[in-house]
Amino acid sequence: MNNLIRRWLVLGGLAVTGGVLPAAAQPVQHLTTVQAGGMPGMPVMGGISRLTNGVQLHWSGPAGYYQVFQKSNGLTAPWIALGKATNVACTATINQLYSNAFFRVAGPAPNYAGSKLCLACHLAVCQYETNTAHASAFSSPAFAALGGQTNASCLPCHTVGYGTATGFVSAKATPLLAGVQCENCHGPAANHAGSPDNPIIRPRVEVAATLCGGCHRASHTAFNNPPTYEEWSASGHGAVVPDALKAMTASPASIDNCGACHSGSARIALLTGTDPALKLTNDFNVAIGCAVCHNPHATNSVSPVQLRNPLFSTNDFQLLSADTASLGAFTNKYNANTNINLCAQCHNARGAAWTDTARAPHHSGQYNILIGSVGTPALDYPFNPGTHAGLPAANGGFYLTNQCVECHMSAEPAASQGAHNHSLAVNYNVCANCHVGQTGQQAQAGLATFLKPLVTETLQSLNRWAATRAPAALITNGVVAWEYTTPGGVTWQTNATGGVTGWSLNGTVNFTGPNAAGQALIPNNIKQARYDLYLFLNDGSMGAHNPFYALALLEDALSLASQ
Ligand code: HEC
Ligand code: HEC
Ligand code: HEC
Ligand code: HEC
Ligand code: HEC
Ligand code: HEC
Ligand code: HEC
Ligand code: HEC
Ligand code: HEC
Repeated sequence: MNNLIRRWLVLGGLAVTGGVLPAAAQPVQHLTTVQAGGMPGMPVMGGISRLTNGVQLHWSGPAGYYQVFQKSNGLTAPWIALGKATNVACTATINQLYSNAFFRVAGPAPNYAGSKLCLACHLAVCQYETNTAHASAFSSPAFAALGGQTNASCLPCHTVGYGTATGFVSAKATPLLAGVQCENCHGPAANHAGSPDNPIIRPRVEVAATLCGGCHRASHTAFNNPPTYEEWSASGHGAVVPDALKAMTASPASIDNCGACHSGSARIALLTGTDPALKLTNDFNVAIGCAVCHNPHATNSVSPVQLRNPLFSTNDFQLLSADTASLGAFTNKYNANTNINLCAQCHNARGAAWTDTARAPHHSGQYNILIGSVGTPALDYPFNPGTHAGLPAANGGFYLTNQCVECHMSAEPAASQGAHNHSLAVNYNVCANCHVGQTGQQAQAGLATFLKPLVTETLQSLNRWAATRAPAALITNGVVAWEYTTPGGVTWQTNATGGVTGWSLNGTVNFTGPNAAGQALIPNNIKQARYDLYLFLNDGSMGAHNPFYALALLEDALSLASQ
């Protein structure tokens, strides 16, 4: 209790009426605020949410005991302690309140130590950490030249704990707290270093992007640094896909399976040696944050920006559900494949096969399309990378050395060239490095006008088969005989005679496919045709990832559907 300090955080007021419930089996609280300096040294408010019968408070701060206090309406009313000073969850549910109540929490004192003190017990992490740019965030000549070392507005993100009682003061007074160190990310840890066996004051390990976002954000654009956090939050990586969330809520096995690609906390648990299904039953709604791709502690030979995997590979790779069914299986697979492109770790076809009957290939096949290793053309010729896969080619010496990142994360030709755009939006300026005489958009539109009719023709053939040649048992109202049991999602418009005239991926699917018994009646050529068709559609690039291979997929689909 001697950790408690008399600094209060008033959480806010609400009109309900007094009492406390323990915080039990609730979702794990992650850092909800984005704060200069990273992990706050003092408690900061996360929010109040209203429950049917009370409120829930959230706050963030260093690991340790907290106590919640409440004050009834009126300035002169006393603060009343709610429960004991033993709250370690940083959240409390209060179901009886005063009208217009105010809350505050008392928490552990921020006691910064500096990373030298951590060396004794965390030698490996400390050695690697020293090689990162973080370690020299204060000493860097560029920072010094701009006067940052003595400018109070710069110090919160370039030093440890600036602005708190035991944090950085000046290069002279607190030399061991210069630069970005362990405690920017883990919170003040001197108390922990003093009693490492006390689990209550063990430093926080935060995997959410808000940790990094406190410093890597828009406020820094004046120095040509991109607003990484904002770009990232607006991207598809900034939230967990709702359907994946639903699946993980329904079954722990899905936390391993879907979570390996859809949940930041599940992915990081797998990468750092925890079995997510066992540990994360209430902690999978964490987006694909910074630490999923960047190793927070280390640079490596392939990446000065601390990426966990390289950006270029041409090995075939798919992550199967068997690979994530246990930690051991994942570790074996991953260690054997760390040389696989960072993006391909998730953007792969998941073992899609033409024999699948329940669902169409997942939307994630981009890497295997880029290198041409999935679909019926690859059954005969397993390696079909197009020029966009970045293999050296006769393109005036230019090729896509960083594969996906080259098109999806480039910031050229802006002043911040060399920096990367985390929004994932395709940068069409890149195309001009090779495509002459037309813009990338024009090239893509041209390719689409060529490929789209092939999709229509394939649908025409599949529907013709369903109407005229499908086994009688498959011809039922509301069932499309060539589809997967859960239809893949393509819908089409027809003319007066029932011929397909166009298609869309965003229409309402008001039909089903044959059930499992019915699937057994669908001939192989139809199964292969729908597989190729959906591989093309679900890749989402309309052929751009591997133009000639996309053409091969659709030509195969059409000819198989017409057999
Ligand atoms: C005297 C030894 C010692 C010192 C000094 C020490 N630690 Fe630790 N630290 C430990 C032990 C023991 C654990 C628990 C390891 C475990 O359970 O696997 C730990 C765990 C941690 C964790 C992980 C908590 C978790 O939940 O996995 C972090 C983060 C951490 N320490 C940071 C620090 C920082 C930062 C410093 C320096 C300010 C520091 N430690 C200094 C011994 C120490
Ligand atoms: C306390 C503020 C702060 C926090 C928190 C923080 N960073 Fe940084 N980061 C910096 C600063 C400052 C630099 C620039 C250091 C330099 O080059 O001198 C930097 C540099 C980097 C770089 C190297 C950039 C380059 O161009 O070489 C990477 C990568 C990075 N941070 C990733 C992360 C990730 C991932 C996290 C969260 C796990 C994170 N940072 C958390 C302040 C922070
Ligand atoms: C909100 C947090 C924040 C504040 C405040 C901040 N920086 Fe930074 N600074 C960063 C981060 C994060 C990076 C790394 C960005 C990257 O590499 O993408 C960085 C990088 C830099 C770099 C380039 C890396 C290097 O060290 O060579 C310089 C120079 C720099 N900052 C100077 C300043 C100066 C001067 C100020 C004050 C006027 C300042 N910063 C205030 C977060 C901050
Ligand atoms: C830029 C932010 C950042 C910095 C700086 C940082 N860490 Fe971490 N640390 C993390 C994140 C995020 C995780 C969880 C993800 C992971 O382990 O890869 C973590 C995990 C840990 C763990 C638990 C599991 C493991 O990977 O061993 C320990 C212990 C730890 N850090 C200690 C330290 C120490 C000691 C330092 C300083 C030498 C340090 N960290 C610096 C962000 C950081
Ligand atoms: C091998 C990695 C991986 C696994 C495993 C995985 N997904 Fe995905 N999933 C992805 C990727 C990558 C995308 C995004 C592709 C895109 O944006 O085109 C995606 C897209 C989706 C979408 C479409 C989102 C949208 O934008 O419409 C849904 C729904 C989905 N996944 C659900 C699931 C469910 C449920 C599971 C578990 C049964 C799962 N996924 C397992 C990688 C995976
Ligand atoms: C999907 C993977 C991924 C995620 C998630 C991700 N990054 Fe990156 N980041 C990259 C790649 C790839 C690069 C470019 C590396 C290269 O070209 O060497 C990069 C570059 C950077 C750099 C170097 C400066 C620059 O822009 O080139 C910083 C700093 C950085 N990221 C910080 C962050 C932060 C902070 C977050 C979370 C808000 C984040 N990243 C999330 C993949 C990722
Ligand atoms: C941990 C798994 C994982 C990694 C690693 C990963 N992604 Fe994703 N990515 C996903 C998932 C899941 C989605 C689907 C999000 C959705 O549909 O909302 C997605 C969506 C996307 C999208 C769709 C864009 C959008 O905003 O809708 C693009 C483009 C993308 N990722 C590119 C990349 C690139 C480039 C890399 C490598 C630097 C990468 N991804 C690494 C899992 C991952
Ligand atoms: C030659 C440039 C290029 C390369 C290399 C590239 N992409 Fe793409 N990608 C595109 C284009 C163009 C689109 C279509 C974008 C659109 O319609 O907005 C696209 C679309 C996507 C989509 C679907 C986006 C959506 O909104 O549904 C995802 C996901 C994706 N790419 C991921 C990747 C991954 C992962 C890699 C590496 C394996 C990769 N891309 C390599 C150009 C590229
Ligand atoms: C490394 C050089 C290079 C870059 C960069 C590049 N392409 Fe290509 N692209 C090619 C080559 C070479 C072909 C011929 C087909 C092949 O080998 O895959 C091609 C073919 C295409 C095609 C097929 C039809 C046609 O017009 O030839 C499209 C569409 C296309 N690229 C779009 C893009 C887009 C969009 C971008 C930028 C996001 C881009 N390309 C970036 C080299 C490049």
